[in-house]
Amino acid sequence: MLVSPHILFNHCYGKYTIAAVNVFNMEQIHGLFAAAEYSSTPIIVQVTPVARNYAHPTMIMAMIKAAAKIYPKVVFSIHLDHGNETHALDAIDQGYTSVMIDASHDDFESNIQRTKTVVEAAHPRNVFVEAELGVLSGVEDDLSVAENHAKYTDPCQAKEFVDRSGCDSLAVAIGTSHGAYKFSGGKGLQFAVLEKIQQALPEFPLVLHGSSGVKRNDIDEINRLGGALLKNASGVTDEEIKKAIPYGICKVNIATDLRLLWTKVHRLFFAEHPDQFDPVVPGKMYMEAYKTFMIERFEVFGSKGKASALKLN
Ligand code: 13P
Repeated sequence: MLVSPHILFNHCYGKYTIAAVNVFNMEQIHGLFAAAEYSSTPIIVQVTPVARNYAHPTMIMAMIKAAAKIYPKVVFSIHLDHGNETHALDAIDQGYTSVMIDASHDDFESNIQRTKTVVEAAHPRNVFVEAELGVLSGVEDDLSVAENHAKYTDPCQAKEFVDRSGCDSLAVAIGTSHGAYKFSGGKGLQFAVLEKIQQALPEFPLVLHGSSGVKRNDIDEINRLGGALLKNASGVTDEEIKKAIPYGICKVNIATDLRLLWTKVHRLFFAEHPDQFDPVVPGKMYMEAYKTFMIERFEVFGSKGKASALKLN
């Protein structure tokens, strides 16, 4: 069932968090919906502009709608991740329940004004708007931000930003970064900053981008099979995610972990079966591994079993 993030966040605030998972292809959509149905977990299916261009916006939406029919018990929202105004308007027209306008690289005033423009287009159509304040480092889509250009969210600006822009949730920069090389691995999440943001915005849903775990074993396995990932790859720990939930983190974004999984499954398969060239066999293995991975994540996020607990009409 397609629902607004309002419903999900009202239910989870302070108690558990919703996995918002980036999807690019059919295998990932199957894996995600299969896991959500198995665990009775509400999810946010999110799509970046690059994913929309890769599959085609119509194709990716059609695949998500097909998954909703194949897995009818799944409670989910469809979210545009890191869009600009054009992407957001297009996604609203397409029936997304939620859009992110990412003007976080602009100055404060411009971020407010651009977010407000999207809010004014989205709210009359009951579409939820996520905005971002502060700058994450790392690589997302075709944008790369160096660590020294990252900027934590300023808690003193958070309330003014939300009040003036009218956004419905706020992505905060508190030490995570996009991609496999997170500086949070060294410094960790900045809970003192997060606490101040929550004090400024009590009960307001906060979003944690860059939440992949980037497990050491997976990096080592990929490298053993011929990969060349850097040894300092690291992610957000399960303990950090659990600790962030009472501070109002209602949505945790994951993309990198599922890319690493794709790489691991395919490298292993072709290393063990060098004579094969059929995409169906490793594709099925990836879908199964994806499902298993997400079921384990839902346990950590505390969202297992919560789809049936939501009051939906
Ligand atoms: P990861 O790179 O940690 O998976 O984060 C993805 C993300 O935040 C998408 O918006």
